Amino acid sequence: MNIDPILKNDWHPVAAVRDLPEETITPVRLLGEELLLWQSGDRIMAWQDICPHRGARLSAGKVCGDTLVCPYHGLAYNPEGQCVLIPAYSTPKPPPNMRVKAYSCVERYGLVWVNLGESEATPSSDKIPPFLEWEDANFRKFLCGPFRYESSALRAMENFIDVSHFPFVHDGFLGDVNHTEVSDYEVKTDAEGISLNNLKVWQPDPDGTGVGGEVTYNYHIWRPLTASFAKAAQGGKLGLFFTITPLEEEMCLGWMWIAMNYGQDIPEEELRQFQETVVQQDIPIVESQRPKRLPLDLTAEVHLACDQSAIAYRKWLKRLGVTYGTL
Ligand code: FES
Repeated sequence: MNIDPILKNDWHPVAAVRDLPEETITPVRLLGEELLLWQSGDRIMAWQDICPHRGARLSAGKVCGDTLVCPYHGLAYNPEGQCVLIPAYSTPKPPPNMRVKAYSCVERYGLVWVNLGESEATPSSDKIPPFLEWEDANFRKFLCGPFRYESSALRAMENFIDVSHFPFVHDGFLGDVNHTEVSDYEVKTDAEGISLNNLKVWQPDPDGTGVGGEVTYNYHIWRPLTASFAKAAQGGKLGLFFTITPLEEEMCLGWMWIAMNYGQDIPEEELRQFQETVVQQDIPIVESQRPKRLPLDLTAEVHLACDQSAIAYRKWLKRLGVTYGTL
């Protein structure tokens, strides 16, 4: 599998912690690799889903104490991935190379993040992008997704930062078909990623009063597949943290944290339903795009003045050297 070093050495969410029952093994997928997650005490392990003995799927095995036991010949592996028991022999010393391939794995923002980098040093989890509202108790937060897209993760991310589609794909939700103009906005690319500021968007009901009005959006793209969004709303602030799991070059999962410090009386279910509706409106459009992979050659598609966000994103990906999910 040809994975560019940028995405291979990046941190990616693979599952929500809430979806990992104790003493279970959860198969997950990342960048075309079949992995498994399991827990021992406070630790979460992300392993290649292959037993080094005869290649059986370890995710079909079981957790026994602090070991994971392969379903084929019963070899048991400790949390470091080292085999500690070969049931066919009473002599207890499994060879050092009887070891499962383990990847760096941490929990952050209620998600399990994995890094497929193979450097000797453990990749620093400091590189996981910041979710700015995470520590602020004034913000109510809830996780939406995962949302499955049969398309490149990069197409899905570009959709997240595209505002001129709102009146057409999200008429009555995020946009109004009678207010379609997009004014100029600021685009800045630096070592921290891409900032998109002062995007003026007409929303049908920004204040919860039923009256339409202009709202200012700001985005920051931290990593190729993680971005945040902020807007002032109803005397407070709405923040989104959107991160995407690249399952395959043309298949991905989107995860969205919503953070808001207003509207405490609005039921969470209503807010979730709104977001679910918006994303489900986006998915068929993204899945319809051809090619499914994002073309980084700027001459491959025709751009409009309002597409500065996408142009900056594609230029940045090309400069970084991202190739997985691109053309
Ligand atoms: Fe796993 Fe033999 S294949 S123990």
